[in-house]
Amino acid sequence: MGPGPMGRATSIKVGGDQPYEVIVGTGIAAELTALVGARAESVVLIHASGHEQLAQPAVQALAAAGYTVHTEAVPAGEAAKDIAVATALWSRLAALKTSRSDAIVGLGGGAVTDLAGFVAATWLRGVRVVLVPTTLLGIVDAAVGGKTAINIPAGKNLVGAFHPPGGVLADLSTLATLPAAEYVSGLAEVIKAGFIADPVILDLIEQDPAGAAAPGGAHERELVERAVAMKAEVVAADLREAGRRESLNYGHTLGHAIEQAEHYRIRHGEAVAMGMMFAASVGRLAGRLDQATADRHGAILRSVGLPTKYEGVPWSQLREAMAVDKKTRGSRLRLIVLDGLARPGILADPPEQLLERAYQEA
Ligand SMILES: NC(=O)c1ccc[n+]([C@@H]2O[C@H](COP(=O)([O-])OP(=O)(O)OC[C@H]3O[C@@H](n4cnc5c(N)ncnc54)[C@H](O)[C@@H]3O)[C@@H](O)[C@H]2O)c1
Repeated sequence: MGPGPMGRATSIKVGGDQPYEVIVGTGIAAELTALVGARAESVVLIHASGHEQLAQPAVQALAAAGYTVHTEAVPAGEAAKDIAVATALWSRLAALKTSRSDAIVGLGGGAVTDLAGFVAATWLRGVRVVLVPTTLLGIVDAAVGGKTAINIPAGKNLVGAFHPPGGVLADLSTLATLPAAEYVSGLAEVIKAGFIADPVILDLIEQDPAGAAAPGGAHERELVERAVAMKAEVVAADLREAGRRESLNYGHTLGHAIEQAEHYRIRHGEAVAMGMMFAASVGRLAGRLDQATADRHGAILRSVGLPTKYEGVPWSQLREAMAVDKKTRGSRLRLIVLDGLARPGILADPPEQLLERAYQEA
């Protein structure tokens, strides 16, 4: 990692069978053409309706480079991840005669990039997709790692494919219009990266919590680069979930249960924040995490305005939802806990009493 030959932009490499770059910078739409590549003649750019302005710099950069650009608006937010939306896009790709050498660009939050990735994974059994995430969560999490999905009535992200992007353009200038609550939600994943792998992230946020909680802060770029580098390293080692990739699930087992209990009306990062409090409490009670590091969770999450205590449905309902989380293996509960700062580990089959006590004390 480090400022590469592009000067203003940083290139972070994601290794593996299909390596790609995540380009980070501000006002870097022009870099998109290099990620789309010379093979494509036409580009189908998928964005959320109402966010045409956000897509303009990318559309202009592609047109200026000589691509035929077709823009397709999809519903904003989670409504994009629907089979009807995917079907309409497949029909458009057929009408446009999109070939295997053309490319799809997905520009928007995690919902749009998940949808665009899924459509690209399935069209002609896989065409190149370049992702341009425009939320903090999208930049540090959804767009990196190659997971794509849509939702079905039976559950979120149940239908999808692993389809690594051809490249990711993280243009921090797109974050300027992001509502504060969405930005802070994304920060939960940045903080997770700090606890499981890169404590410098925690130091930077603690130096200036207010600055970290809004777009354009002094440390924004470094925080983003560190969080992306962490995810890049983990997913390169491990595309399909076993082993190290499981550590990315820190705070997510209870987080997913809370999201489900709240019918997904709560933001992902907010649920993960409360899930990390629980995971820290479990780690402490299991004798694996020291008190000071456990306490650091609450202090830093609160300092940026993330919630730390869930007071919705009863514990028994959350516990049931945790048992059917798709990331548990068989019927055994596997929780990611910390054995210290930046030392994630697995706690399998924790005693029920410990779990409930950890939840009450979190
Ligand atoms: N593939 C993965 O590995 C992965 C990882 C984490 C999350 N996800 C998925 O990501 C989705 C959540 O992503 P999200 O938090 O980005 O939510 P989102 O995509 O729903 O976007 C949140 C809201 O912000 C708006 N928005 C986006 N960019 C904006 C901008 N620059 N300015 C103003 N408004 C903007 C959107 O229209 C939407 O209303 C979920 O569907 C989740 O399943 C996927």
